Amino acid sequence: MENLIQAIEQLKKEKNALIMGHYYQRSEIQEIADYIGDSLALAQQAAKTTADIIVMCGVHFMGETAKVLCPEKKVLVPDMAAGCSLADSCPADKFEQFVKEHPGYTVISYVNTTAAVKALTDVVVTSTNARQIVESFPKDEKIIFGPDRNLGSYINSVTGRNMLVWDGACHVHEQFSVEKIVEIKKQHPQAVILAHPECKGAVLKLADVVGSTAALLKYFVAHPEKEYIVATEAGILHEMRKKCPQTTFIPAPPMDSTCGCNECNFMRLNTLEKLYNCLKDESPEITVDPAIAEKAVRPIKRMLEISA
Ligand code: 13P
Repeated sequence: MENLIQAIEQLKKEKNALIMGHYYQRSEIQEIADYIGDSLALAQQAAKTTADIIVMCGVHFMGETAKVLCPEKKVLVPDMAAGCSLADSCPADKFEQFVKEHPGYTVISYVNTTAAVKALTDVVVTSTNARQIVESFPKDEKIIFGPDRNLGSYINSVTGRNMLVWDGACHVHEQFSVEKIVEIKKQHPQAVILAHPECKGAVLKLADVVGSTAALLKYFVAHPEKEYIVATEAGILHEMRKKCPQTTFIPAPPMDSTCGCNECNFMRLNTLEKLYNCLKDESPEITVDPAIAEKAVRPIKRMLEISA
């Protein structure tokens, strides 16, 4: 493993590459990344990097977002099969039909979408800025929100809006078991429940703090003395443990508990070996149809402007 790490570092320097990683990546990938962050931070960082090559250790839509923002750069992903169940739950042709059926609606799409869906969108949001961006529109604005039904319903509930919400979901966040979380809370009554807004409403009702990965980390760093039940992909525990090794974290269990925690099988596809190979071969490379990229870049840039 040491040799692999050295070889990656060497290639990275030679090729002026930037390795970015999401908080849901395997620990060893988070450790080697030049930059780790949530979906918003990764897009912001991609937009301003001077590197020639971006290696996006995350899932496909994150690579696409970087490519759309930096068409002149080479954007690599260690494993092209690293998809996203949420993005898959919103095929562009079906979404286009839905948008056409609702003329006069502003289209707000979560970043977990394909570039083709972003091309049909007025403004992109991430879980960090969804509330802020929705609230930047007048109260009576007619809005379509896609594709996450849990995030959309949550934003409706905290803003008092009545957005039309697409019926999509993340296979990891949908899986957390309300009953098991209640049981753990009985045994650890002082534990703070942290939940990502992609979780089902019943889980969010139990949560003390609802937020994006970055927001949950921020809360936790401000209160490291507490005990935590964490309802999001378990990769985030790496950064939490690094920041506060003494804190007790209990990963919220999924309904089907063949494992004790919830991991995204797509995020886990990226490994150090694949990262090394992709830097060496400069492949697999993300490509986006220029006609789609031209349309998709506008709502992404609009998001970055609002979130600046
Ligand atoms: P964040 O906005 O917290 O990075 O969420 C990304 C994500 O894909 C959650 O499933």
